[in-house]
Amino acid sequence: MSFNKKTVQDISLENKRVLMRADYNVPVKDGKISDDYRIKQSLETIRFILAKPGTRLVIMSHLGRPKGPDDKQSSLKPVAQHLSQLLDKKVHFAADCIGDEAKAAAERLGQHEILLLENLRYHPEEEANDKVFAKALVDASGAQIFVQDGFGVVHRAHASTEAITQLLPSVSGLLLAKEIKTIEKIIKEPAKPLVSVIGGAKISDKIEVLNKMINISDCVAVVGAMANNFLLAEHYEVGNSLIEKEALITAKRVMKKAREEEKKRNFSFLLPVDVVVSKRADGRLPTRIVDLKGDNIADILAYPKLPKSSAYIVGPDEMIMDIGPASAGLIAGALKMANTVFWNGTCGITETRGLAGAHDPFAHGTRTITEAMIGPSNRHANRPFTLVGGGDTVSYVEQQGLVEDFSHVSTGGGATLELISGHKLPGIEALLDKHTA
Ligand code: 3PG
Repeated sequence: MSFNKKTVQDISLENKRVLMRADYNVPVKDGKISDDYRIKQSLETIRFILAKPGTRLVIMSHLGRPKGPDDKQSSLKPVAQHLSQLLDKKVHFAADCIGDEAKAAAERLGQHEILLLENLRYHPEEEANDKVFAKALVDASGAQIFVQDGFGVVHRAHASTEAITQLLPSVSGLLLAKEIKTIEKIIKEPAKPLVSVIGGAKISDKIEVLNKMINISDCVAVVGAMANNFLLAEHYEVGNSLIEKEALITAKRVMKKAREEEKKRNFSFLLPVDVVVSKRADGRLPTRIVDLKGDNIADILAYPKLPKSSAYIVGPDEMIMDIGPASAGLIAGALKMANTVFWNGTCGITETRGLAGAHDPFAHGTRTITEAMIGPSNRHANRPFTLVGGGDTVSYVEQQGLVEDFSHVSTGGGATLELISGHKLPGIEALLDKHTA
């Protein structure tokens, strides 16, 4: 894998009508966008295109997984308004992505003007990678060039990512190129030590990434609900915690591989040694720390008595909500030695808001490791190169206002994971190679 595709910088855009695929699949509630990271990240390419003499730009995207055009919650209209504010420039909107209305709106575009088309997924032909639909998109937009800048969607072989590239000269936008080059660098030539923190709900979604990161990292720490499966595989009680029953064998296999790697070279595979549990995920009931490995916490909390056996065991009606402070400290220690960090998946349920106390009840582990990656106590004069990939982790980083503190916060979830796993992504493969005339 090596990024050898043409970008907008390699072709002449002068006086061209450009059709750009963005990933504006952003959370919208009651017409308001609660996280505009993906929209902001597309601005560089938009500005680059519009700065060229005589260009006209038509942008297309999907939003959500709508059942049909009546699903108004999935309309891209609020995105057009938001984009317009970010650019401080009118963004025209067409209520369909193909047909007469879209065509008329595209024809009306003056030089350096932008049109956003309505949600591509209102048409099932989009996901079916339908050539006739792709042709209709080209006809409506009147485009002479296609720019793919929707990194989050290039792992999909859809009409707007693949079929369309057979109809127009197709190049990468600046965001797509940046995302791919950054991920390639981490995989191929990371500044060592490389520490990977991997969480999320399901092992099955991340098995290939886990295996890949075990192969190339100096330390892999497993956190979040995914760690529950590993704890279960190691015969710890996990009570009522979220687990993936069918993943037990997978967890055992991954553990075996990781332990073999530990014997072969200087590598550590970290699982939680303590966990934060509660009987409810909404933060309305007390929390406690379970000292799984019997290190010190149970002793300290019980002194001068001896700890009860429950201090070491997750109860049948309890759920693991976060890693405990000892686990977070171990991971933080590894992170402070790192020159490269790959982070995908928070340590606990960071969405749960706290009723009292300075912090949210299940976000302590994530706060500790975040601080170790980017906080003032990091030993480096230059902090490690930090790549954050994956939807939930990105939302957390955004909410905390920390995006600027990380080296790269990816706009892709599934696409990042597939690229790291070494897969060829259809939306990238379809673009023109650098060496083509
Ligand atoms: C994403 O949010 O990961 C992308 O926009 C792709 O969306 P999809 O998983 O619905 O194809």
